[in-house]
Amino acid sequence: MLNVTGLFTEYVSDKGVVVQAAKDVTFEVPKGKLFTLLGPSGCGKTTTLRSIAGLEKPSQGLIEVNGKAVYSSVKGVFTPPNKRGFGMVFQSYAIWPHMTVFQNASFPMEVGQKKFTTAEIKERVMRVLESVELAQYHDRDATRLSGGQQQRLALARALVMEPQLLLLDEPLSNLDAKLREKMRFELKKIQRELDITTIYVTHDQSEALALSHEIAVMSAGRIVQRGTPREIYEKPKNNFVADFVGAINFIDATVKDIDAQHQRMVMDSEVGLIQLPIQEAFKVGDTVQVCVRPENVHLSDTPPSEDNMNSYVGTVDQKIFLGEVLDFQVKIREKLILARVHPTQLTPVGHPIHVYFDPRGCVVFKAE
Ligand SMILES: Nc1ncnc2c1ncn2[C@@H]1O[C@H](COP(=O)(O)OP(=O)(O)OP(=O)(O)O)[C@@H](O)[C@H]1O
Ligand SMILES: [Mg+2]
Repeated sequence: MLNVTGLFTEYVSDKGVVVQAAKDVTFEVPKGKLFTLLGPSGCGKTTTLRSIAGLEKPSQGLIEVNGKAVYSSVKGVFTPPNKRGFGMVFQSYAIWPHMTVFQNASFPMEVGQKKFTTAEIKERVMRVLESVELAQYHDRDATRLSGGQQQRLALARALVMEPQLLLLDEPLSNLDAKLREKMRFELKKIQRELDITTIYVTHDQSEALALSHEIAVMSAGRIVQRGTPREIYEKPKNNFVADFVGAINFIDATVKDIDAQHQRMVMDSEVGLIQLPIQEAFKVGDTVQVCVRPENVHLSDTPPSEDNMNSYVGTVDQKIFLGEVLDFQVKIREKLILARVHPTQLTPVGHPIHVYFDPRGCVVFKAE
């Protein structure tokens, strides 16, 4: 549905310095899918979104919707934003305070170039308000809505023109944690029900994992990895992605042996020997980083039965009770390892504990 190819967008600062905010950004979004641009502040997410909307003029690249260019540097095409037929919700969405809920949602239909009859407006606005569950508040003053309801109203306003593409820039960022989580589910439901192709921008990894069909992780203007939420979380391509999408332990190691017979790669690490299935990219002598997420670090008060591969003895250094899980910081030699376990694990601070890394949850990178 949407194809972005080799997109470059730059800004020139007051002092004449050129900032390349989007560099060679390439991705495609199939119809009806939710695609997320995820990355730290300043990595170029908003710039990419605004370039797609036509609010920034890229310096190079191609943006196509259903095979038709809305921007092409080669062909000199630039379709103005109001002709692209996209809906957008900005981070600082503005609810118009002097209007009712209905008037807020109907505004784009009133002011657009296309003329609608009063009956058409009424029918469509009520349908959209229905989909975001605000129909019963249609004649209420818009300021007399909760934060989450205002958020849904901003979404309704973006949906009312039935855009072929919905662009959302951190739409949940000014809600409190509880409401943000609730809205996540609602947004996902609305997007799936209306089957509307959506690009979602966020710096919140859990939001991206929860909502997306596909995620692109950005760093310094570039997409560093694209994949399903599970791929991004479980098979990060590099250190940056691994670190950005969730808590993780990085363990320095050196490849000591490649045992072809047992298909095993043995590494000498800060915590002791680590043995994992062979990965072709590595050879003996390479310095690497073994990454393991805290939920793949298992703890036990009793030693492992026989095969003690990837098992270590450490000391409980600290514990943090988080309700549904318990975070243990365990010291193995001089290395602190984070383990996220069930709160029934009761080992006191200062006591020895057995630690096991699930090899399926370990990823190895070349040290940078
Ligand atoms: N109007 C502008 N003029 C000059 N530089 C800009 C402008 N807008 C953004 N930039 C710069 O471009 C880079 C990318 O900015 P962008 O707003 O796309 O980041 P972002 O990923 O959306 O970050 P955030 O998560 O903080 O919103 C940053 O270095 C930023 O300082
Ligand atoms: Mg931004």
